[in-house]
Amino acid sequence: MLKVTGLKKVFRVEKMFGAGKTEIAAIDGVSFEAKEGSILAIVGESGSGKTTIARCLAGIETPDGGEMVYNGNKLEFDTKEKRAAVQYVFQDTFGSLNPRMKIRDAIAEPIEFHFGKKSADLRTSVDACLESVGIKAETGNKYPHELSGGQRQRVVIARALSMNPRLLIADEPVSSLDVSVQAQILSLFQKLNREKGISIIFITHDLRIVKSLAHDIIVLKNGKIEERGGVADVYREPKSPYTRLLLSSIPGNQAGSEKIHGS
Ligand SMILES: Nc1ncnc2c1ncn2[C@@H]1O[C@H](COP(=O)(O)OP(=O)(O)OP(=O)(O)O)[C@@H](O)[C@H]1O
Ligand SMILES: [Mg+2]
Repeated sequence: MLKVTGLKKVFRVEKMFGAGKTEIAAIDGVSFEAKEGSILAIVGESGSGKTTIARCLAGIETPDGGEMVYNGNKLEFDTKEKRAAVQYVFQDTFGSLNPRMKIRDAIAEPIEFHFGKKSADLRTSVDACLESVGIKAETGNKYPHELSGGQRQRVVIARALSMNPRLLIADEPVSSLDVSVQAQILSLFQKLNREKGISIIFITHDLRIVKSLAHDIIVLKNGKIEERGGVADVYREPKSPYTRLLLSSIPGNQAGSEKIHGS
């Protein structure tokens, strides 16, 4: 359903000591597909280009090359409907929510804007969104700072879901949460995928969480795809030395390190 071909993004940055400008190819000819109804994990070390891919898919960055095709059409953001179909969840929940807006209003606002719902109808939709992420309706009367990190991430997910997206892009959505809260949010993503059939692109640097979460994986290194495949296959038999290295750094994971020593 989402087909990305040869995606490229170059940043022009100042060199140190005023030595002019230099170019960084943040992503350099990246191609992948995210299958309908599946969870695709994008992993890689810091600076490998994960967020740049997410920002291109979100329309926040304009790619310098390549194509993004969604259900046979170029991925565009020029109408309300197109913007609604693909939704994003980022790591920074505080930055994603207006501190002066009650949770209920933060979710109501885009629903009103996109679907023109009013009053009772709007209230029902907001409650349904909160309920779908395990937040009680009365919590909607609170402000963002009155919630825990995990609750805030649920609210951000609820707001994304209010647009009835077919594709959800989540960039490090659990990285700032405690391990036990991480597990709850991860099972929420799985539930949304299974029960609502929402396709998810899940970006993380933490390979521990990918194995039980995602169906497919791509491994990025320096803006290029190093390895791709089904999660079970890649974890069992990583082809690239870099993937083996990443897997071997997971505490308690011996498979990757044996391969490294054996190679
Ligand atoms: N706006 C920008 N201007 C200049 N360089 C940038 C910009 N955004 C990203 N980069 C550079 O592009 C490369 C990829 O960055 P990106 O944020 O996509 O990595 P990442 O894989 O998400 O890393 P992390 O795991 O730390 O979030 C890095 O070298 C980064 O410094
Ligand atoms: Mg990032």
